[in-house]
Amino acid sequence: MYVKLCSVQDVPLGETRQFDLKDEEILVVNLNGAFCCLEARCTHAGAPLAEGEMEEDILVCPWHHSRFRVTDGSVVNSPARAPLKVYKSLIKDGHVLIEFQDAED
Ligand code: FES
Repeated sequence: MYVKLCSVQDVPLGETRQFDLKDEEILVVNLNGAFCCLEARCTHAGAPLAEGEMEEDILVCPWHHSRFRVTDGSVVNSPARAPLKVYKSLIKDGHVLIEFQDAED
């Protein structure tokens, strides 16, 4: 099921924002007008990735500087080893929708 997460205007070009949906924290990245949706906590020690810096398509963790590719969640540089979860997403009527499985469903 796709669920509305935010407006495309909520996330300026080249920036990141965190949104909460039920119990999940989701990071939205505006990469040149394409929107990538990933888990919002670093897989190393749980840093809030919305506070990290973007370098082209790479997000740098604010705590120990792991680097993740936002298009697929893969780790580019450690100390993190596990990739970030990526949510399938689409744009509809000016909103970012993500595929979201509610645990209660
Ligand atoms: S919490 Fe992100 S690299 Fe350590």
